[in-house]
Amino acid sequence: MKNPEFSIGNLIPELPIIQGGMAIRISTASLAAAVAEEGGIGLIAATGMAVDELKQEIAKARDLTKGIIGINIMYAASQFANLVKTAIDEGIDLIVTGAGFSRDIFSWGRVAGVPIVPIVSTPKLAMLSQKLGAAAVVVEGKEAGGHLGTTVSMKEIVPMVKQAVSIPVIAAGGIIDGKAIKDAFKLGADAVQMGTRFAASNESNASEEFKRMYLAAKAEDVVLINSPVGLPGRGLLNSFVQRLFRDDDGIRPEKCDNCLKKCSRRFCIFKALIMSQQGDVENGLVFSGERVGEIKDILSVKDIIKNLLFEFETAESGV
Ligand SMILES: Cc1cc2nc3c(=O)[nH]c(=O)nc-3n(C[C@H](O)[C@H](O)[C@H](O)COP(=O)(O)O)c2cc1C
Repeated sequence: MKNPEFSIGNLIPELPIIQGGMAIRISTASLAAAVAEEGGIGLIAATGMAVDELKQEIAKARDLTKGIIGINIMYAASQFANLVKTAIDEGIDLIVTGAGFSRDIFSWGRVAGVPIVPIVSTPKLAMLSQKLGAAAVVVEGKEAGGHLGTTVSMKEIVPMVKQAVSIPVIAAGGIIDGKAIKDAFKLGADAVQMGTRFAASNESNASEEFKRMYLAAKAEDVVLINSPVGLPGRGLLNSFVQRLFRDDDGIRPEKCDNCLKKCSRRFCIFKALIMSQQGDVENGLVFSGERVGEIKDILSVKDIIKNLLFEFETAESGV
């Protein structure tokens, strides 16, 4: 699996594995540092954090590892520019950005010498990203957890994007084991980004209830909701999602902190994500990828990576 060819700007990770940023506060310093310590790239989810909190998380991750640490930030967040600039000032290694598209971030990154990696779901946006100076692109398919920009499988998009750009292509969505990594490489990916598998780790900052819900989930529990951000989101069916599906007015926010640049105000997504992260997995929103039903145990990041390496070496690619 060690891929000496893979780099993002000047960053050369030992392993071509990126832990996807997971808001709100699912991927904090402990998870990002554990992945970086194993040779991958760890991402702190900055979305929903205050500036001081983000500074503390970056400092904490740096205390825990000398590995590669980045942030993930949602363009849709009102605090987008502030959080990006804070991360740059704190000497972050890279910035991954999704849920909308910023042109400005590429010039901020260029000036500071920080690689910018947008999340895209079409060859067209990948080409524009390359033109604007992206160091790599994450290509996310419909299998992924969280906000989605497509209904198309990662397996279809990755080969198209690989043909369209010369920067590294990082596949995301539905990669939970070493075989899926092998398949992604066969499709042309240079690296993978994984979310759901790492959310179900000891070092993930999700509540025990959140992790237990992952372990209990079956394939049919994974649903798509309309996020107030204006994008579909993939998560688990629970009381909250049932209320959303029946158009229950009771979930409308009573007050609004204007945390998003644009919001339908159908419900408060920040509040819903924070509730599940803290343990109220019936009244909060539990984001999850399509393959969560195949996860059978909560493991340390060390063991997850050990398993990925073993599966990668022993599996036959299915593509
Ligand atoms: C709980 C959860 C929260 C997520 N939050 C974010 C986020 O804040 N920003 C983002 O760009 N992607 C987010 N994602 C997507 C992941 O970073 C990653 O791309 C995706 O999970 C990959 O698919 P997989 O879950 O099948 O591995 C989230 C995913 C999950 C499961």
